[in-house]
Amino acid sequence: MGVQRAGAHRHVSSGHGQAWDRGAEEGSPSSRSATQAQRALRPNRAPHANRAGEPHAAPASPTAFLRLDAVSRSFGATVALQDLSLHVRHGEFVSILGPSGSGKSTTLNLIAGFDFPSSGEIHLDGRDVTWEPSHSRGIGMVFQNYALFPHMTVFENVAFPLRSRRQPSAMVKAAVDAALQLVQLESMVDRLPRQLSGGQQQRVALARAIVYRPAVLLMDEPLGALDRKLRADMQVEIKRLHRELGTTVLYVTHDQEEALSMSDRIAVLHRGRLEQFAPPQEIYARPATRFVAGFVGEVNFLPATIDADGRTALVHDLEVRVPLAANGPLAPGTRVTVSLRPEHLALAPHDGSSGQGAIVVETLYLGDAVKCVLRLGDTRLVAKVPLRRYTPAEPGDAFALEVDITACQLFID
Ligand SMILES: Nc1ncnc2c1ncn2[C@@H]1O[C@H](COP(=O)(O)OP(=O)(O)OP(=O)(O)O)[C@@H](O)[C@H]1O
Ligand SMILES: [Mg+2]
Repeated sequence: MGVQRAGAHRHVSSGHGQAWDRGAEEGSPSSRSATQAQRALRPNRAPHANRAGEPHAAPASPTAFLRLDAVSRSFGATVALQDLSLHVRHGEFVSILGPSGSGKSTTLNLIAGFDFPSSGEIHLDGRDVTWEPSHSRGIGMVFQNYALFPHMTVFENVAFPLRSRRQPSAMVKAAVDAALQLVQLESMVDRLPRQLSGGQQQRVALARAIVYRPAVLLMDEPLGALDRKLRADMQVEIKRLHRELGTTVLYVTHDQEEALSMSDRIAVLHRGRLEQFAPPQEIYARPATRFVAGFVGEVNFLPATIDADGRTALVHDLEVRVPLAANGPLAPGTRVTVSLRPEHLALAPHDGSSGQGAIVVETLYLGDAVKCVLRLGDTRLVAKVPLRRYTPAEPGDAFALEVDITACQLFID
């Protein structure tokens, strides 16, 4: 269903892909009971819904826990952030994703109170904190470069935020032990940062950020300096910490895979503007803008024209028709762009009945799939074929293309 053979010129009446069922994703309760360390490190503020045995996502509340309303920040002529409104629920893991210079760090700095907006308001737990100094906001921050004190031991680094808040030493010891236990560094308390690997240093930075039980944990590309394997391990660690502590997390990254795999919702920024704020599955399957479609995951963009009925678009290169669903109807003849993920293109034997066929330009082995770069007339297309469905192909081979039209997205140019 929903698959069209390129060149078949068949009209279809089905709508676009299915609505994303959030309930299925959110209803995965954790049965783990809170350990002492977890209890010691629970956030300071309002009790959180993300406890053992309760649904993972925080309940939709009329008031967001962290709220940015029409926040802008300019540096002279540079508009770093424009009219950003972002409502984050308590206990949510939100990634801020965007290319370099899109305003990600600016957003975090404004939330942390290291910087202040040119206009707009920031509310935390029902309180206007727009002009509140950083230290009274109850926010923890982890930076890309760890920012550990080189002359202090692991213990002293983690204890620092508590000591600067003049906490009694028995309390400091208990909280530091609990934080180090959570990041699994109990055995390294007496080491100096230079005696640790990059991943271990980042875990110290994490422990230091969570030790005073921040209501919100901000992380600015915390894994940027780590190699791929360590990054993957740390992603799991950070997810575990989030689940166990129930802290609201804002996580900055320019790595779309990282954002897709870790977040409850992703905010995609582009040139200081919010392009889309939605769960990963929606960002990937139903990108709101061309930019989001192109930035998150690989995509084929194809020119298309609205048919006479105003409800379908003819994709010229593929000679398939895509229903408009929510976009329609549009004026016949309107030029649009259709986006199609590589996994929604399948290769079928080319028997000459379906036009010219797509010519294989290159094949790239990905482990579980093969990426095929194809040429169809003047158009370059990328198809991703699962290994079990892949028939070995050589450059120059011709295939018919099958298109999952229900997965196509349509953008008005
Ligand atoms: N203190 C500053 N003075 C002048 N311009 C600034 C300042 N801070 C940020 N900018 C500008 O604001 C824009 C957004 O910067 P920001 O640091 O938020 O980007 P980013 O998304 O974090 O990028 P990256 O992925 O490279 O870290 C950029 O154009 C940057 O040059
Ligand atoms: Mg940055």
